Amino acid sequence: MTTLHVPLDSHAYDVTIEAGARARTGAFLARALGEAAGRRILLVADAALAETHAEVVASSLEAAGFDVVVATVEATESNKSLEAFEALLKAAAGQRIDRSGAVVSVGGGIICDLAGFVAASWLRGVPVFHVPTSLLAMVDASIGGKTGVNLPLPDGALGKNLVGAFWQPVGVLCDPEVLETLPERERACGLAECVKHGLIADWALLEALRAQASDILEGRLSSCMSLIARCAATKVNIVSGDEREEAGPGSGVARAFLNLGHTFAHAIEPLPELELKHGEAVAIGLMAAGACARALGHWGAADVEALQSTLEACGLPIALRRPLGKGPLIERMGWDKKVRQGTLTIIVPNGRGSVTMVSGPDRELLETAWASVGAS
Ligand SMILES: NC(=O)c1ccc[n+]([C@@H]2O[C@H](COP(=O)([O-])OP(=O)(O)OC[C@H]3O[C@@H](n4cnc5c(N)ncnc54)[C@H](O)[C@@H]3O)[C@@H](O)[C@H]2O)c1
Ligand SMILES: [Zn+2]
Repeated sequence: MTTLHVPLDSHAYDVTIEAGARARTGAFLARALGEAAGRRILLVADAALAETHAEVVASSLEAAGFDVVVATVEATESNKSLEAFEALLKAAAGQRIDRSGAVVSVGGGIICDLAGFVAASWLRGVPVFHVPTSLLAMVDASIGGKTGVNLPLPDGALGKNLVGAFWQPVGVLCDPEVLETLPERERACGLAECVKHGLIADWALLEALRAQASDILEGRLSSCMSLIARCAATKVNIVSGDEREEAGPGSGVARAFLNLGHTFAHAIEPLPELELKHGEAVAIGLMAAGACARALGHWGAADVEALQSTLEACGLPIALRRPLGKGPLIERMGWDKKVRQGTLTIIVPNGRGSVTMVSGPDRELLETAWASVGAS
């Protein structure tokens, strides 16, 4: 078992990584909340996992003395919506979840983000406890308290995570055994965030990923355990240094660093013709950010090559499948949440295992970045 402590000012919590732990969720939650008796839990489960992992979690909560009501959501980006949010709030009302209650999420990042936002909003905030079931959610989405939903934009595409709140969980329980049922493409998506963590703060992680990627893609547990712990620790360190993403340029640790690749990714992820999952869009976004690092002289050709070969070993795309125009893609970057007073900020590697913020990047730099991933 590995326990990572998240020492936040607002409240501290633990991220526990242990094979088989989902069957002991009740004990973990009872410890986090003080006691189980008389507490009603809204268990927000990925519908695809309702009869498997979520069932195990629900039984464990009941065995510990919690009263459990289950609400299921199909995990799609279009369901990470205000409509699904409202339906869950109505479920909380209908089931009379009171202030002694809590929300437990069982699912990937979509369920974590949605359930977390429900917890942040219901009765102005009840505790949330995450049992992430995807690699991506274990190493990234479940840690750090960012919650929210997407919103349709005027151009018809989904504006990613435009509505939400910071709401830290009271605990996170990662059981790598659940990854055995995760499709290989989804495992690869989780690896994209691991590569991102490596670029931000742990360059040697890239080599470890190149060596272990096939084990992880095939779901061999021992590799997953150490990797999840290493990647989750990077995320814990970053959010602990800047809980609410307030650190600006020049800061040693800034939560905004976690957006590496994402400003590019968010411009392409919602485009239906590309059929990209979040992690795949992030992989292409990381290549675009790497091209910026190269163009700015922070990276040599060997560094770009190291990134590319790591992403390829992880089974991830490194370029667009269709030659979209650079102009509209740059335009779409303007919807990013990191735009302030009309100025876009991107995160760019400035060494091996370190990154920096670039505010108001030149259009030429953005064009170079998009061209490097196949935009025309
Ligand atoms: N809050 C944050 O800090 C943060 C960070 C990174 C990503 N995110 C968000 O996370 C989302 C992506 O997360 P994701 O990739 O986990 O997506 P997801 O929740 O859609 O899960 C991916 C797919 O895997 C399935 N699945 C999940 N666990 C499974 C299991 N154990 N067995 C079988 N199938 C399983 C789901 O049903 C789904 O089809 C995005 O919406 C992204 O914006 C949030
Ligand atoms: Zn991400």
